Amino acid sequence: MAVSWNRQDNIGLIWIDNPPVNATSHAVREGLAIALAEANADVAIQAIIIACKGKTFVAGADVKEFGTPPRAPFLNDLVQLIEDSAKPVIAALHGTVLGGGLEIALAAHGRIAALQTQLGLPEVKLGIIPGAGGTQRLPRLIGMPEAIDMVASGKRVSAAQALDLGMIDRISDNDLIQDAIAFAQILAGREPRRTGTLPVREFDGLAVDAQITAIERKARGQISPGAAARSAFSAASLPIEQGLKREREKFLELVNSEQAIALRYVFAAERLAAKVVDLEGISPRFVQNVGIAGAGLMGAGIAVAFADAGYDITIVERDEPSMDLGRKRIEAIYDRMVKAGRIDIALKEQRLSRIGFHIDRAAFSQCDLVLEAVFDDLDVKQELFASLSSIVRADAILATNTSYLNPDAIASVIMNPSRFIGLHFFSPANIMRLVEVVRTKDIAPDVLAAGLAVTKRLGKLGIVSGVCEGFIGNRLFTAYRHQCDIMLEDGALPHEIDAAVEAYGFPMGPYAVTDLAGLDISWARRKRDAGKRDPAARYVTIADRLCEAGRFGQKAGKGYYAYDGGKKSVDPAVADLIATISNEKGITRRSFGQDEIMTNIIAGLVAEGDKLMNEGIAMRASDIDLVLINGYGYPAWRGGPMFQSGRS
Ligand code: 3HC
Repeated sequence: MAVSWNRQDNIGLIWIDNPPVNATSHAVREGLAIALAEANADVAIQAIIIACKGKTFVAGADVKEFGTPPRAPFLNDLVQLIEDSAKPVIAALHGTVLGGGLEIALAAHGRIAALQTQLGLPEVKLGIIPGAGGTQRLPRLIGMPEAIDMVASGKRVSAAQALDLGMIDRISDNDLIQDAIAFAQILAGREPRRTGTLPVREFDGLAVDAQITAIERKARGQISPGAAARSAFSAASLPIEQGLKREREKFLELVNSEQAIALRYVFAAERLAAKVVDLEGISPRFVQNVGIAGAGLMGAGIAVAFADAGYDITIVERDEPSMDLGRKRIEAIYDRMVKAGRIDIALKEQRLSRIGFHIDRAAFSQCDLVLEAVFDDLDVKQELFASLSSIVRADAILATNTSYLNPDAIASVIMNPSRFIGLHFFSPANIMRLVEVVRTKDIAPDVLAAGLAVTKRLGKLGIVSGVCEGFIGNRLFTAYRHQCDIMLEDGALPHEIDAAVEAYGFPMGPYAVTDLAGLDISWARRKRDAGKRDPAARYVTIADRLCEAGRFGQKAGKGYYAYDGGKKSVDPAVADLIATISNEKGITRRSFGQDEIMTNIIAGLVAEGDKLMNEGIAMRASDIDLVLINGYGYPAWRGGPMFQSGRS
């Protein structure tokens, strides 16, 4: 039964039990409405608690029901029943109280949460806005700017933060239900405090206007964040009934929008990505002690990601000065987090205390997994792994973070290559969500499963990739850049392509990105691999010629753009150079509109995606979309090129 209830003395205890996440499916809504009515009708009951079985309180409306004809009772009506209940209702919260789950809680008259609870309204990430009062009740409880921030970002807050904000009344650090009963006893028999009747605290209207404008700008074409913010804003001027009505209308309008359909696809794709056919029933190899070889930019970011997720880390650098530099790099990352208010000093110290620094590889001897983040050179990596394979335990997993080298070639020096895996992090590794989990030739199933389990625990998205040069991500990026370069040679200019890509929803165009990353490393690779190039394929020399002219990007003060005084500007010298190159090839330059630019880019990505599928490098089309969204800034609300072309 999805919902049941019983009486304990004068308290009615309603249980929701709808695994895996207690979503408000039809049976839950129906059961909850009946249980509420029955508990209200029972004269012995003076207060009602709503709690959930399993790992979480309600984590939202049932996403699987979206797009199907709605069936009464609707969640918004049910939430209203809770608020209107004659007897006080207490929500006893644990796990992830999200979306419709938080809306149920906001309509209750008292909220108590277990210490580890996370709360949020993530609807915008599904292309919708809260549809059961979230945008109307949250501002009444926590204030306007704070509510707008939460509904527009979809971010979660901890129980402690929720208490500070006024979103919940109590934290339980012991037995949640016992504590909820004690709280219910206090409210029993009293007139309920109904959130919908509370006034919205005064706020600075101009500041909130500016906040909403910034949210809309940052959304780059995605509708839901601005719509959620505006809906919350209306709570200040509309009576609650009207605010709720408008919120519901907007929710219903957005739930069937193209953006919401695309984002639901992304939601499902992310869950699918973790499912690997031949891993069913396989337990991941255990990982808690993690070794990281190299604490450069990449190694430092990786160490922070692991420390944040509660792993114990051993870093080995080649000498004392490099080790000190590595330590400073890691401290600097944490200092930035403290400065941004994301963590406090105590948490910084706690996380740093998880990281040990050494210069002797023997320190890796007790690690469950050792990941290298050293220079991307085959000899360097082979030397490292040859020595590691006699230092670490026989069952320890060895992992490479290589971007371009063949992991199977690296693995050839390892005793027992079945424990070898690629874990390709994207930079900055503590921030970027994507990790390519590379299935090496001899990999043991529990090692591949461990790769996925580790990325999940890191809070990242692991996508399985087969072995090929560049894996899924860099192959796609190369194809993307190739399409863009062809258009440059045929008549477009870098700033025109960047503008088209940014208007489409990417945070940055390809040439601005390249200037930021630097042109020199890929130039060196192109020179090294010149012999491997297909002579029949079209080769665009623009990047090479820019490098020959010392235009290595932002760090050189010039690249595809000029950076006089650090400020980016279009450089006529680049346009001249490109025109010269087109001329040398006998190409008559023509103009490209934004739509044509994007059509060509998407066609290039789809063609490369098809190849990745045919070669068995990518398991499914949706994985390709996820790589582009999470590694390269493809706008999630468009679903991705494979989705748009009907391939997934
Ligand atoms: N509806 C239906 N199924 C859901 C669901 C939901 N809201 N949330 C999660 N699930 C399913 C997943 O599809 C998955 O199913 P599977 O095992 O068949 O693949 C299963 O639950 C477990 O999910 P995860 O693998 O994601 O488990 P985690 O433990 O890693 O995460 C979670 C749990 C934090 C709850 C995460 O699933 C999540 O963020 N879910 C989405 C929450 C959300 O967006 N809620 C808002 C919904 S919209 C809404 O409420 C509208 C309202 O305002 C009217």
